[in-house]
Amino acid sequence: MSATFTESQLSEIAARHGLSLRDVVPPDFAQRIVALKEQLARTDVRFPIPPETAEKYLALAESAAPFGVGSLTDESVDLGPYENFQHFDQYSLAEHLSWACLIVEQQKTKHRYACREYLEGEQLFAIRGTTIPDYYLLNARIYQATGWQLATVSEIIPAELFFTCHSRRFFPVTTFMRALEQDYLQEPDIGHDVAGHVATFTIPAVASVMRNHGKARDMVYAERDEKLKQAQSEDEKAKIIAWADELLLYAGRIYWFTVEFGLVMQDGEVRDFGAGILSSPGETIFSIDSPEPSRVLIDPAKDADLLRLAVTDYLISEFQKTYFVMKSFDRLESLTPERIVWAAKRAMELPHYTWREIVPGDQVINVGRGVTGINEKYFRLQAGDQLDECLTRCATRNLNIIAAGFDEANGYRDLKLPPPPVPPSIVNWWKNRHDRS
Ligand SMILES: [Fe+2]
Repeated sequence: MSATFTESQLSEIAARHGLSLRDVVPPDFAQRIVALKEQLARTDVRFPIPPETAEKYLALAESAAPFGVGSLTDESVDLGPYENFQHFDQYSLAEHLSWACLIVEQQKTKHRYACREYLEGEQLFAIRGTTIPDYYLLNARIYQATGWQLATVSEIIPAELFFTCHSRRFFPVTTFMRALEQDYLQEPDIGHDVAGHVATFTIPAVASVMRNHGKARDMVYAERDEKLKQAQSEDEKAKIIAWADELLLYAGRIYWFTVEFGLVMQDGEVRDFGAGILSSPGETIFSIDSPEPSRVLIDPAKDADLLRLAVTDYLISEFQKTYFVMKSFDRLESLTPERIVWAAKRAMELPHYTWREIVPGDQVINVGRGVTGINEKYFRLQAGDQLDECLTRCATRNLNIIAAGFDEANGYRDLKLPPPPVPPSIVNWWKNRHDRS
């Protein structure tokens, strides 16, 4: 944390959130070891830890080695240059207070906006408290309840490594805590990874979507490696590598719109379950109450709906412009690795939508104020308007595909309805511009 605070400034911040600095007392080493010992001995859990494994794990914690990758099973994961460790004793009082404030603010919003299962999961992992969780203890708790473990990383990691971790039931977590009173940040921190994600592991459908993205990565990379064996040139190899990474990008959109920013219908109401939403008290309210974003009902068991997620581009730098509301968690269970790979491959062939569009065939819950027409991005590009990256990326990609001769009659076959055709004048303008450059 770059800013330094005096004790009286910290006290003032704490008071603004109904806290006292006296509440923010991190456990010392001996207290952490006692808590860990008790946790490891528990047998009333789904995945009890064998005594020999528990002994080794405890010995590691007692040696004062910082937490890196969970070691409660034979599985592990190589994080390469992203390897990192949690040095619990090095967190400042301001960092612990930042966690405490986030938890207090989350509590104010969660009970009104989060789905039932999230609230139960939060109880199970005791994601509360006024100090940053000790990863040794948290890792043991998560493993005992879900079979997942933590892997500590230094920053946002590439999609390939992220999903490799998932295929082995490791969840990558960072070790830094957001600045005091910062509500939304685009890079993950402990607030996002732990206060946002960890409680969602207990939702079976979400855990299965996470794991299946890991398996989808394994399928894509197995296919990539087969293709690489046949490649005749370096150029061909580079294209195959780019092909696999592009597929993971589109698979990652399904993850984004579900695990990160998903909503679900529950008892006739829209509720949050996405970790990106729930780790931001501001976005928790915005996602359900604000008239700004659109909300679209999705049945993930239907191919057209799944494809809708894979072909939708977004930005990570601001609150979402469209939220997808899952019909139910049961329907989310249908996201097998095979279907994720199928949707990513189809997305590769298709023009894409921006996050500001309502698409033909959408089951619209509400149209957001920020919505744009489907062809608006092309006209605005032609007019030289300043467009955000999402609109620019989509417009140029789509025009390149359409100008190259996209078969509109057959190409859109897996969508519910084809979008309106792009006006020929725009396609010609794009072709001419391309020819001249
Ligand atoms: Fe996340």
